[in-house]
Amino acid sequence: ELNGAITIVVLGASGDLAKKKTYPALFRLFHYGFLPENTFIVGYARSKMTHEEYLDRITRFIKVKGAEEDIEKFKKITSYHQGQYDDDKSFQSLNDYLKTLEKERGIDVGKRNRMFYMALPPSVFIPVAHGLKKNVYAKEGSTRVVVEKPFGMDSASSKHLAQSLAQCFSEEEVYRIDHYLGKEMVKNLMVVRFANIFFSQIWDRKYIDSVQITFKEPFGSEGRGGYFDEFGIIRDVIQNHLLQVLSLVAMERPISTEAEAIRDEKVKVLKCIPPIELSDALLGQYVAANGKPGYLEDETLKDKNSLTPTFAALVCWVQNERWEGVPFILKAGKALNDAKVEIRIQFRNVAGNLYKGAARNELVLRVQPEEAVYIKFNNKEPGLSYHTIQTDLDLSYHSRYKDLEIPDAYDSLLLDVMRRDHSNFVRSDELEAAWKIFTPLLHKIDGREGVKIENYAYGSRGPAQLDGFVKRYGYDKSEAH
Ligand code: BG6
Repeated sequence: ELNGAITIVVLGASGDLAKKKTYPALFRLFHYGFLPENTFIVGYARSKMTHEEYLDRITRFIKVKGAEEDIEKFKKITSYHQGQYDDDKSFQSLNDYLKTLEKERGIDVGKRNRMFYMALPPSVFIPVAHGLKKNVYAKEGSTRVVVEKPFGMDSASSKHLAQSLAQCFSEEEVYRIDHYLGKEMVKNLMVVRFANIFFSQIWDRKYIDSVQITFKEPFGSEGRGGYFDEFGIIRDVIQNHLLQVLSLVAMERPISTEAEAIRDEKVKVLKCIPPIELSDALLGQYVAANGKPGYLEDETLKDKNSLTPTFAALVCWVQNERWEGVPFILKAGKALNDAKVEIRIQFRNVAGNLYKGAARNELVLRVQPEEAVYIKFNNKEPGLSYHTIQTDLDLSYHSRYKDLEIPDAYDSLLLDVMRRDHSNFVRSDELEAAWKIFTPLLHKIDGREGVKIENYAYGSRGPAQLDGFVKRYGYDKSEAH
């Protein structure tokens, strides 16, 4: 795909995301031989930094054992260029710098490949897109623009962003990152569904009772209160990460594994989901407990009376032939009792069951930690009795694939960008469909219209109402755990 070498420009190079995710991922790709030869990486941001400060910053989070020699080599293919985000002169100077680097590396003008990785605060997003297009765009050769969330706050702001971006770059040039799409188990969803005859045949309302997609984090907004309070848990992880997972669980079989075929199906299924009703939502905010501060005590929080939810359980209804009547319950929370992301598909009761009390089957895909696929399954208790017991058919990655390393989501996604594979990136119409599902609810929450926020203790399972809430949608927890 890369006809020539690539120059990667990390915009927002002094930020947290670049330091913790982007540079370590670029390093691993370099270390394992996945970066094209002759790659160069330029960090760009407003802060003044010396070359040494920059190198120290971008290598601090690299944790690959025995890679010291490669880290030294990696340092030689990167440098920092300081500039503003809203100023043509800065971008012209960046362009001159890139040209010099390309010339030094013997790259023909016609074979310039430039990748712009935008890890930027939303406020500078539009000026940067215009500045890049006007001054730094590779007219000959190729341009890739990688965009990090947030992609707006609601339908209107997202549309505005999309229009500004579309004025500058074509959809083929744009890669909207949702890093959940780079996670191993999320990438596995299509394989599990479409390469196994027993799943593909029972994947509908006739056999499936409910789907739960759960995200639990054991820490609060600590240190990110400014950002988090504006966005809240729904915008932060549900509208993007969990909805992406939902669309892969619920979509129809694509006609091929081509990116557009997959994305067409994802958009189609999202369009079958009406906006979430407030009555289908349980919202919460954590309070101090177990020696940990409550959300409102976060020092980085401006509004000390904030009603921003840090927990939400929301139910989506997919109104099509396959899914009508099956609740898709999306649950996410900060400051909970566990660190876990999983997809739990609960099947219906066996009709005319001979074995009263046998629990429902469940298929669970654990996204993290410790990837696993397991099925809750009824078995005869070994021995002279005929009791049924529930057991697991368990595929745990750490025991089955001992010698294989599971790549980080960012490694996988950045490699996709290099290969120009859009399968795991969010298309613009997909984003629009996603916002439509959440915008009315978010506006009610922002406007505090009849919205109740339940308290829950830091380190707990979430609001006390949670079990009752999932039960309302038919989730049967009797023997399934
Ligand atoms: C980010 C959110 O998109 O995803 C964070 O902004 C959240 O609040 C993070 O912690 C979770 O990602 P991961 O990969 O740690 O599950």
